[in-house]
Amino acid sequence: MLEQQTPLLLAEAIAHLDKGFEHLPAFETPVDAVALRPILRELAERLRDNFPYPHPQYVGQMIKPPHPIARVAYALAQQINPNNHALDGGRATSALEKEAVAGLAAMFGWEGHLGHLTSGGTLGNLEALFVANKLHPGKTILASSQAHYTHSRLCGVLGISFETVPVDARGRMDLDALEVRLKAGDVGTVVATLGTTATGSVDPLPEILGRAAAAGARVHVDAAYGGYFGLAEGLGAAARAGFEGLASDGVASIVIDPHKHGLQPYGCGAVLFRDPSVGRFYVHDSPYTYFTSNELHLGEISLECSRPGASAAALWATQRLLPLVRGGAFAGELTAAHANARRFADRLRGEGRWIVPFAPDLDIVVWACGGSALRASAVSTRSRSLFHEARARDLHLALATLPVAWFPEIDDDAQGSVTVLRSCLMRSEHGAWFDRIFSLLDEAHAATL
Ligand SMILES: Cc1ncc(COP(=O)(O)O)c(C=O)c1O
Repeated sequence: MLEQQTPLLLAEAIAHLDKGFEHLPAFETPVDAVALRPILRELAERLRDNFPYPHPQYVGQMIKPPHPIARVAYALAQQINPNNHALDGGRATSALEKEAVAGLAAMFGWEGHLGHLTSGGTLGNLEALFVANKLHPGKTILASSQAHYTHSRLCGVLGISFETVPVDARGRMDLDALEVRLKAGDVGTVVATLGTTATGSVDPLPEILGRAAAAGARVHVDAAYGGYFGLAEGLGAAARAGFEGLASDGVASIVIDPHKHGLQPYGCGAVLFRDPSVGRFYVHDSPYTYFTSNELHLGEISLECSRPGASAAALWATQRLLPLVRGGAFAGELTAAHANARRFADRLRGEGRWIVPFAPDLDIVVWACGGSALRASAVSTRSRSLFHEARARDLHLALATLPVAWFPEIDDDAQGSVTVLRSCLMRSEHGAWFDRIFSLLDEAHAATL
């Protein structure tokens, strides 16, 4: 199941890299293979204790295997272990990071930007909220009740007032509620989510931009999950409009996670600001770095100090192989993921025994066991049981707790929420596995009954 060709390519690339240092006096890094081998075997055994994420029978959380080129590029850069804090620690990989982030900005249709990679969506959002608070000190930040929990938590860390805006029955921000809250005043920034974590719902960005502008508020977009879907074909009109809104001048900042849909190993998020002058909020003294060049050191515009140059190398190499353009191979994967999710939802609906509250905006499907006289507590118990029965058959799903109001068929006897099944169909290959996935689901369903 695991790919074993890239280690050979890696060996070739390391030899090529090594040639660049031939002018130096010979020096070797000792490797005690006898000592390493048993530990690596033991580690391989320990690592077996994971769900099989690279296998198409994993249709659970938002976990997507990195592209082989990303893994091999990361490992190649590890031979040097560059640090993209300052140019002295990672000259080549800082340049690669700037190019890769410029590629993300171009995908969003931005001409100018200031941005960098982060360890993930959380740190990217931390920086966006930090800048939001610098520009509108003391003002409230709004995000939908389906926004990632990180916004509320980070506002707590930063000492910013935070409030949620209700969502509609598809998990998208409710515009009337937003308008009412904006009119009440004192809002500095609205966070729009393009691809919520639970259901991949896309907030109505163009309308949010209009309402925020009228109220003098900024807009930050958390596109950690969905950010690449603007490249996909076949999205519904509302989701498509959301992604088209990203190019608008009103979008002050965007967070995107290459380690979700960008085929990168974990540790790769990104934050981009429309106005490069926000770099002034990062100004700090660092008497021990920044001395080799007057060019921008990425540590001067990042809250994190040390950051892996290897992440930049991996992202750059992936974007070189798979350019971020509509109609390209990378875009095709997203188109297929979305189409698969729609087909998955339709097939569930067609079976008649499931409740599917809505067609997915992106590639995340949520559904519950149907039946008569449904109570939320019983549906939740059934979902958990089905999750375990499926897992016992090597079909790996996920669970989500959602507002019961989204499921008109279910009686609310559990204080407003219900636990349902959830699948992120992040890979085009899932489509070819539907018959098997549905047959395992059928067995798990029978066992649950
Ligand atoms: C919409 C959204 N924002 C932020 C995050 C946090 O990102 P990370 O896990 O990379 O820190 C996630 C993670 O799932 C997410 O889905």
